[in-house]
Amino acid sequence: HGTSRVNEKGHLEIGGCDTTDLVHAYQTPLYVYDEELIREKCRAYVKAFEASGFRFQVAYASKAFMCMAMCQLVMEEQMSLDVVSAGELYTALKAGFPAERIHFHGNNKTEEELEMALDAGIGCFVVDNFFELELLHDLAQKKDRIVPILLRLTPGIEAHTHDYISTGQDDSKFGFGVASGQALQAVKVALNKPFYKLLGIHSHIGSQIFDTTGFVGAVEVLGAFLEQVRAETKYEVEVLNLGGGFGIRYTEEDDPLPVGEYVKVITEEVRRQFAITSYPLPEIWIEPGRSIVGDAGTTLYTVGSVKDIPGIRKYVAVDGGMSDNIRPALYQAKYEAVLANRAGEEAVDMVSIAGKCCESGDMLIWDYVLPKANPGDILGVSCTGAYGYSMANNYNRIRRPAVVFVKEGRAEVAVERETYEDLIKNDRVFPRVLSRSV
Ligand code: LLP
Repeated sequence: HGTSRVNEKGHLEIGGCDTTDLVHAYQTPLYVYDEELIREKCRAYVKAFEASGFRFQVAYASKAFMCMAMCQLVMEEQMSLDVVSAGELYTALKAGFPAERIHFHGNNKTEEELEMALDAGIGCFVVDNFFELELLHDLAQKKDRIVPILLRLTPGIEAHTHDYISTGQDDSKFGFGVASGQALQAVKVALNKPFYKLLGIHSHIGSQIFDTTGFVGAVEVLGAFLEQVRAETKYEVEVLNLGGGFGIRYTEEDDPLPVGEYVKVITEEVRRQFAITSYPLPEIWIEPGRSIVGDAGTTLYTVGSVKDIPGIRKYVAVDGGMSDNIRPALYQAKYEAVLANRAGEEAVDMVSIAGKCCESGDMLIWDYVLPKANPGDILGVSCTGAYGYSMANNYNRIRRPAVVFVKEGRAEVAVERETYEDLIKNDRVFPRVLSRSV
């Protein structure tokens, strides 16, 4: 997919770059991002909205993959940015991302984070709970600032049979519940606060969703809720934010729609629902993360030990693992892989791909057929662009890998590989005293 192909040498090529050359230049593990594919996804979202006739914002959910180069790309694509911490906000601001197109999420933003965002003059705070509703307003008042907000609601959409991480159900740490009446109460509180400009409401029902029924259900619940709000307060929203969560294809078990289709379903449903009550059509915002960067990322590893337990299993170990991709260990997430330096060869060998961390659970792929792998081969795991680097960690003091963007045969480093010095730069050595005195 994207610009990936097998070249004349039988090597995996991405963005016109031979992956064996990339490995030579940057070592492994290495995150390789197909820049064209990311931009394609961004444009598909924007195009689908343009076709819908709605006013809109597409905010990239930076938690999926965040670095300054990614912020630049999102900026160039004229999109907005969703951040969930002062760290993400800081990165965006340092990359020169326009503050007015930054939206700030989170169920427990600290006072320090809220202040940083207020001082930067960001475009929107998504207020999650009653505590924050008071705290942010107090800060806004102190700074004599009118603050644009959305209220995050939980529409009571249950995951049930759907195969995703659900956040829209009533029993959730996120948002004001519609069913409990807290959402209505929150709207009333917000409308009575002079330093708030209530732009509208937000809902995010979960992640890696294929089926559109959850989105349709959310629009239905929110449409009815907004009608109730109007009846009681005369207030009408300007903005309806329906969150992210659009799924991608990791393996053939996954069956997502093209990104534009989700936009089509959502916009058509809003048009239909809101017509019933002749409610003025709001601006629609969405927050895709995974579906923008997920399949644009490939992680390249070098194969090390191959352990064959006759009649039981063959473990092929690579030089990374749960330190650069925790998703298999955390969610039993499934991935596909290729032997990047012998991509043209027939897959004949059933193996399991092991990471190098000191945990039996550090397995990247179970029972997968590859050409016979030997030490020194390059393994490419595909669709690692979302929640891979962003959830990477230093377990076992493994250095975080480098990130390169590839395009038209050129590679550019977006994030340098961590150094050993990086690993100890915040460590402090205690002066050695011989005896403790009181
Ligand atoms: N908006 C809100 C409010 C969210 O909570 C999320 C994701 C998104 C947007 C973006 O969702 P996406 O389009 O990326 O599905 N670490 C997990 C995923 C956690 C998602 C958290 N919230 C994973 O690796 O699957």
